[in-house]
Amino acid sequence: MREPAFVLGVLVSGSGTNLQAILDAIEAGDLKAKVGVVVSNVATAKALDRAKAARVPAIVVDHKAFPSREAFDAAVVEVLQAHRVDCVVLAGFMRLVTPTVLDAFPNRVVNVHPALLPAFPGVRAQRQALEYGVSISGCTVHFVDAGTDTGPIIAQAPVPVLDADDEATLTARVLQKEHELLPIVLQWIAEGRVVVEHPEGGRPRVRVRIGP
Ligand code: GAR
Repeated sequence: MREPAFVLGVLVSGSGTNLQAILDAIEAGDLKAKVGVVVSNVATAKALDRAKAARVPAIVVDHKAFPSREAFDAAVVEVLQAHRVDCVVLAGFMRLVTPTVLDAFPNRVVNVHPALLPAFPGVRAQRQALEYGVSISGCTVHFVDAGTDTGPIIAQAPVPVLDADDEATLTARVLQKEHELLPIVLQWIAEGRVVVEHPEGGRPRVRVRIGP
């Protein structure tokens, strides 16, 4: 009998190249999961076309139609639960999520961020890195908590910042690294290798079990 699939719900707002990397990794057999649903808060997001091309349900939940973040998040949770999602991936989702989502999927909401956190949280992280003058930036995959890009870090990958870089070139180089890292981390989670520990008096930390 085939094992039941690990079901991802991918939240997007824009171009969806990280969604594409997930879909490609599934197609290649490197990520043993299925995308159960893609939810966008932006009706024109190119990510929706990518979902449709992969025959994945693509649903728009427009945040502007809701009176509060919580009401919007409740509608998103309803869609995710209706599609039996095990793990929620924020893949270029440009909204902060509230406890309404986090409580529905405890330690099961993952974000990809285009910098080496805790450096450069929030928006336009690549521009922040350039303005600061770092010579190495990168990307971070982390569990989401109630803060902005503050949740326990699962994995990071470095990317060099070159003298000639502008925001566009650095963004492209970091994005390529995101496409490599995110599917790997999702496979770890699907395999149950990623554990969040709560050291007494310390921050929650992630341990990734390597090996069989
Ligand atoms: C990615 O670089 C992702 O890290 C970033 O938006 C881009 C989405 O690209 N997310 C954030 O900045 C969230 N704070 P994509 O739509 O092509 O995957």
